[in-house]
Amino acid sequence: MKETQLTRDALIWPLFVREGGGAAEPVATLPGVARHSIDGLVENARLAADLGIPAIAIFPRINPEDKDDDGTLSGDGGNLVCRATAAERAAVPDLGVITDVALDPFTTSGHDGMIRDGEVVNDATVAMLCRQAVVQADAGTTVIAPSDMMDGRIGAIRSALDDAGHHHVLIMSYAAKYASGFYGPFRDAVGAGQTAATVGKDTYQMDPANSREAMREIALDVDEGADFIMVKPGMPYLDIVSKAAENFDLPVFAYQVSGEYAMIEAAAAMGGIDRSRVMMESLMSFRRAGARGILTYFAAEAAALLPK
Ligand code: PBG
Repeated sequence: MKETQLTRDALIWPLFVREGGGAAEPVATLPGVARHSIDGLVENARLAADLGIPAIAIFPRINPEDKDDDGTLSGDGGNLVCRATAAERAAVPDLGVITDVALDPFTTSGHDGMIRDGEVVNDATVAMLCRQAVVQADAGTTVIAPSDMMDGRIGAIRSALDDAGHHHVLIMSYAAKYASGFYGPFRDAVGAGQTAATVGKDTYQMDPANSREAMREIALDVDEGADFIMVKPGMPYLDIVSKAAENFDLPVFAYQVSGEYAMIEAAAAMGGIDRSRVMMESLMSFRRAGARGILTYFAAEAAALLPK
């Protein structure tokens, strides 16, 4: 009688990587989540593959001295994301890798784009994002995931990838991404927390009041060549996930973001909820809303509780 199944192959595991070796570095605002060395990331990739998780998503913590106003390092094939991707692909070739395309880990401002005269500028940023996508593809990524929300970037990135011979690399577009307070702990994890305190991202991310606009944003990205689309945050936006799944033929994914994860952890730590039960219920709710896949910091733990 169960209408919906939660399966291991629906889970994508976001992992943070940092420079240097040594033990994993815990993220204070994300209990149980850490920044890994490249070796640590590869170990976790092996674990993910053993658990039947189809892909990981890599997010870098760039050293502050390597950042600049334009996020130039994002387009350098020797950067941390590219090295981590290449290492992971060599060690666990059957596991998919989703690499984030956005400038925020690389800019001193923590913004997803370049700033000119106090504003994040769209078109100059898109050119940088194309370079970032191509170096990640050169490093062997399987999925490019633009999370920056600039206009026109999906079409531009598709052309740049094709011109560089990367026809087979997929694009997962963060098509409906809201300017949200739920990203706080993530910004701590990648060291882009300064933005939260200064300028909002609401000139390029969506207004939480809008639902019809999300459908327009998704339609644009689909026309430009996205292979699948993402709604983010997840739980507070399940209505958008559901509408997207009804309106579009492409697979819809959702991101249970850092603040959502942290809320569940905090409530569980206070003894008010059964952590494991709420974890599984929250993940099932994404599937019920119509999400094909879920990016979640619970991925490994949840996978271990599901049948093989
Ligand atoms: C930025 C990016 C963010 C997240 C993923 N990519 C934060 C932001 O837009 O400021 C958030 C993910 C999370 O909170 O778990 N490109």
